[in-house]
Amino acid sequence: MNKKGTDITYAANQLKGGGLVAIPTETVYGLAANALNEKSVLKIFEAKKRPAFDPLITHFSQWDRVMPYVGKIPIKAHLLAEAFTPGPITFILPKNDLIPSLVTSGHDTVGVRIPRHPMTRELLDAIDFPLAAPSANPFGYISPTTADHVLDQLGDEVDYVLDGGPCDVGIESTIIAFENQQPVILRLGGLALEQIEEVLGEKVSAIRTSSSNPNAPGMLSSHYSPRKKLIVGDIRTLLPEYSGQKVAIIQLQKEIVAHNGKLLMYELSEKGDLEEAARRIFDVMRAADQSNASVILAEYMPDTFLGRAINDRLRRANNA
Ligand code: TXA
Ligand code: MG
Repeated sequence: MNKKGTDITYAANQLKGGGLVAIPTETVYGLAANALNEKSVLKIFEAKKRPAFDPLITHFSQWDRVMPYVGKIPIKAHLLAEAFTPGPITFILPKNDLIPSLVTSGHDTVGVRIPRHPMTRELLDAIDFPLAAPSANPFGYISPTTADHVLDQLGDEVDYVLDGGPCDVGIESTIIAFENQQPVILRLGGLALEQIEEVLGEKVSAIRTSSSNPNAPGMLSSHYSPRKKLIVGDIRTLLPEYSGQKVAIIQLQKEIVAHNGKLLMYELSEKGDLEEAARRIFDVMRAADQSNASVILAEYMPDTFLGRAINDRLRRANNA
């Protein structure tokens, strides 16, 4: 059997048998296992070399299926669920004992997501358990947005990659938690903060990433890192330092710059469209990482809508 394909029944059978299947979602590809089977969940942590303190998101086809696993859902979560699910948002909700603590790294809350991709929705309907699934990349590396990205890095670890084509949002879901009923964004993502604020009719705060706060799992400041040196800043200021070298440049819209040496230009969106930029950012970061440039220089996006989430990824990818 080919490791990559579109056979939903085969994928469901692998999962029922305790296997690992990479699944397409609208945000990024996930590395999925039966969330109720601890042995299978453990395989996820091993395959990704993910530290046990970083909890996993659980995926369901619809809210009716979520109810048996969670406590009371805050009113503001209801409003957002109605407006934006299925879609690129993850809700941190109180969990009960049916969800193994391995999934949530011992926390008494669980990340709940209803993905929008039709193949994964069909897959979730074909099984009677939720899927625990982090992004399908080795821990700390760039998230995958195609089936081939997954095969390149975790091909030996997965039993099957369900190929749903390139992801159409391209960055991970926005994660929202509720503290005393008040919403807090734990990770900026594929659903813009502005859209959330519009539905709730209030300002919502977003937590900044930190390298030193183990209480904010998944908020590590270093993440999404390419193997090559990547520096985020003003291209014209940074470029002269790399005179004589081949430099990869990532910009929203490319500008003409003078350089003594070769330039590899990656333009995220000719029209300056932030949704297109989000769709392309991880693929472009991978391509630049695999190129023969000696360094990658990237420029921040305008800090609105999906630009904020892209900037968060760039900030964390900065490894200089
Ligand atoms: O778009 C997405 O969310 C993708 C697709 C596959 O659904 N998944 C994803 O998973 O990005 P992952 O594991 O790469 O990132 C999930 C983050 C983790 O870093 C974790 O810290 C946070 O979600 N998280 C999960 N459960 C949590 C909880 N109970 N409390 C706080 N943070 C949680
Ligand atoms: Mg991830």
